[in-house]
Amino acid sequence: MARALGFDDSRRKLLPRTQILGTGSYAPARVVTNQDLEQLVDTSDAWIRERTGIQERRQAAPDEATSDLAVQASRQALEMAGVAPEDVDLIVVGTVTADMPMPSCAALVQAKLGARKAFAFDVSAACAGALYALSVADQFVRTGQVKRALVVGADVLSRAVDWTDRNTCVLFGDGAGALVLGAGSDSEEDASSAGGPENVAPRGILSTHLRTDGTLADILCIPAGGSRTPVTSDNVDANLHKLKMNGKEVFRFAVRSLVESTQTSLGAHGMTPGQVDHVIAHQANLRILEAVLERLEIPREKCWLNLHKYGNTSSASLPMSLDEAWRAGRIKRGDVIAMMAIGAGMAWGSAVVRW
Ligand code: ACO
Repeated sequence: MARALGFDDSRRKLLPRTQILGTGSYAPARVVTNQDLEQLVDTSDAWIRERTGIQERRQAAPDEATSDLAVQASRQALEMAGVAPEDVDLIVVGTVTADMPMPSCAALVQAKLGARKAFAFDVSAACAGALYALSVADQFVRTGQVKRALVVGADVLSRAVDWTDRNTCVLFGDGAGALVLGAGSDSEEDASSAGGPENVAPRGILSTHLRTDGTLADILCIPAGGSRTPVTSDNVDANLHKLKMNGKEVFRFAVRSLVESTQTSLGAHGMTPGQVDHVIAHQANLRILEAVLERLEIPREKCWLNLHKYGNTSSASLPMSLDEAWRAGRIKRGDVIAMMAIGAGMAWGSAVVRW
């Protein structure tokens, strides 16, 4: 396993914190209920609710692809931030269901938004994609290489799941979430030298903490469609182009790693879970989230939950949750937000943000 980012680089303290200037989200119009799925596979509304917390999810229309969802969420986020598309310098999209293998989904989003001066690329970290994208964009903004960055988490997993596999098809939904980032004005050092107790706590993204364990690649994967196993009619007949998952392994690993990651990222700032005002988490399964919150001793009310209506929207779920929580007036200036996500790789991470 490799630790992607260090916290202890004292030079970073000289750099202003990245601020989240706007958020947006988009869920396709079509609602697929648990009862709808009862018609497809041997499952029941009661089983799905009890084991996952999911009641319904959204499904992209046949003519909607991931970039279409991403653009809708991005427009909302840009509008909230008061940033014009042509003023965006960087677009990072976390996705594993880009419109096509190449070019990137981010390039298509750039073109549709008319964000002419932005350079754009995708990151592949499955359900942790938006957190990875946030971390990458934060580095560019904080070091002054870009002024305005658009971070998107978007996936249309309905095109990747096996609709005959009840173990997986009930879990996922389609969606997109977006964040606009910009440089803040106060570095940690400025804040400390300002002296006042309020100023000592800088606002913005305090840090991100990313981890990967590729030895677990096979517990959640799409075997065909890449260079190892290209799409052939035989592979399609064998359903190898569809998502495969060992749900129990993923469950166990997710709980342990999200707890450890959050403890580490809070600890890096001398914080404890008791100081967290809000948890904005990837929404995979209500039972995973409850187990994580219980171990961290964070009350469930502090965690924004929307998986009952969207299911697991992969990379979209974290920015969608943040957008909903903010627009609902839940998050106030100065609040401490613990973000966490995990996905195929396994890839996971956490972030600490002071709003
Ligand atoms: N409807 C009815 N029965 C089902 C269904 C279904 N949709 N799916 C599985 N079952 C059956 C199984 O076949 C099994 O039957 P058996 O005992 O006769 O063999 C029984 O239910 C129990 O199955 P388990 O796998 O033990 O059920 P579990 O309580 O582990 O729940 C679940 C399964 C929901 C997949 C859980 O393991 C889970 O959520 N894992 C995490 C997976 C996840 O979130 N993946 C998302 C991507 S990664 C991420 O986002 C973190």
